[in-house]
Amino acid sequence: MLNAYYSPLAQCLLLTACDSQDEIKRKQYYIDGQALYKLHCANCHQQNGEGLAGLYPPIAGSDFLKKNKELVLCSMRNGLKDTIVVNGKTYRQPMPANAQLQALDVAEIATYIYNEWGDEKTITDVKTVQKVLEDCK
Ligand code: HEC
Repeated sequence: MLNAYYSPLAQCLLLTACDSQDEIKRKQYYIDGQALYKLHCANCHQQNGEGLAGLYPPIAGSDFLKKNKELVLCSMRNGLKDTIVVNGKTYRQPMPANAQLQALDVAEIATYIYNEWGDEKTITDVKTVQKVLEDCK
């Protein structure tokens, strides 16, 4: 939670005018998620989400992203060692686990990547993520 130290007033100024509470929350998740994405994901998937050659699959424009949300949430924490097909291309490099990510971190990153590249306009709430993470296989 990178914005934890801003007062509500500062958030209003930072996030333009004064949006509804829901919209403020979404923008907060998005901004924090973007920073976390740069820190934990961009090495491989790149800042613009386009991935790296045949090694790391793209997140931007990925059909896999939209069809496998629960698996994507689990993979952020637990990694993914599968053969997967993204936009018709096969990937079989393992994605490493990242046990230091808390449910809120996963929720914020998910909000960022699904708003940016998954056609979503809503928040991926921490409570939802907590439940999904408990049920990961
Ligand atoms: C060390 C490189 C690496 C890092 C760091 C990494 N990934 Fe991945 N990611 C991969 C690889 C490799 C795959 C394919 C895994 C497979 O084939 O089983 C993958 C698969 C995915 C997929 C599913 C395929 C797609 O492109 O739609 C998503 C979504 C994803 N990663 C998101 C993330 C997010 C979000 C983070 C940060 C929390 C992250 N990854 C961190 C390498 C990485």
